[in-house]
Amino acid sequence: VTDPYVDLAESFVDHYATLRGAVRQALVAEQVHDHLPVANARVCDVGGGAGHQAIPLARAGHHVVVVDPSEEMLDRLAAALDHQPAAVAARVTSVLMAGEDAPAQLGAGGFDAVLCHGVLMYLDDPRDLVHSLVRLARPGGMVSLLAKNASALALRPALQGRWEDAVTNFDAVADVGNLGAVTRGDTVESLTDVLDAAGADVVAWYGVRVLTDHRTGEPVEPDFPLVLEAEKRAAATDPYRQVGRLIHLVASRR
Ligand SMILES: C[S@@+](CC[C@H](N)C(=O)[O-])C[C@H]1O[C@@H](n2cnc3c(N)ncnc32)[C@H](O)[C@@H]1O
Repeated sequence: VTDPYVDLAESFVDHYATLRGAVRQALVAEQVHDHLPVANARVCDVGGGAGHQAIPLARAGHHVVVVDPSEEMLDRLAAALDHQPAAVAARVTSVLMAGEDAPAQLGAGGFDAVLCHGVLMYLDDPRDLVHSLVRLARPGGMVSLLAKNASALALRPALQGRWEDAVTNFDAVADVGNLGAVTRGDTVESLTDVLDAAGADVVAWYGVRVLTDHRTGEPVEPDFPLVLEAEKRAAATDPYRQVGRLIHLVASRR
């Protein structure tokens, strides 16, 4: 079976060295931290790839199972874990499979928190995976989704002066992402409904990369702490958060 993520793996990883990647990583990590229900949590990171969430969580004392169907991505996770202290690496395990199969393999209701970041945009329909994510969480456990925001697809091309794309994107539900693949957007409303049908209630949502999304390819700047402070305020404040490139929903399993 060909791993469809082989060609994208390098870009997924390199992205975190850019301003846009660093903003996303820092904001989402902080938002997850704020909502984790317990210390030393049992976390399942579905589509966890090379461990950009898993490793910081393990460093903070949490135990993380990374579920991912891409061997290429899990190889990168293993390589990254080699550079971690043994106690941190020991808190991360990985399983090669699709998230849809995870409840049957790992058992339902076993996790304090289930993360699925940057994955739904690659699926034609998010419902099966979201059902599996909610099943993996224990009652009162957290489900964290990071998805592309279908409500604001015109903003990036407009701010970059790509006016034809901007006009097209007002009616689009998918567009070419930064890594060159066409990916699909969801809305806060649609994912709230999908989570509700799966048995989880949204407790908070954030807009991610409201102010810096159009600055493709730029490096992290010396004033990054201020950039982050501004993005943090925008992430949680209307109307700014509504036009974030990504939406971050935090839900609780009933
Ligand atoms: C853009 S990467 C995101 C990696 C990581 N979550 C992050 O935010 O840095 C997308 C990941 O989703 C994985 N993936 C794709 N389809 C999946 C599925 N059905 N179940 C679980 N993971 C999936 C891919 O293998 C890839 O590692």
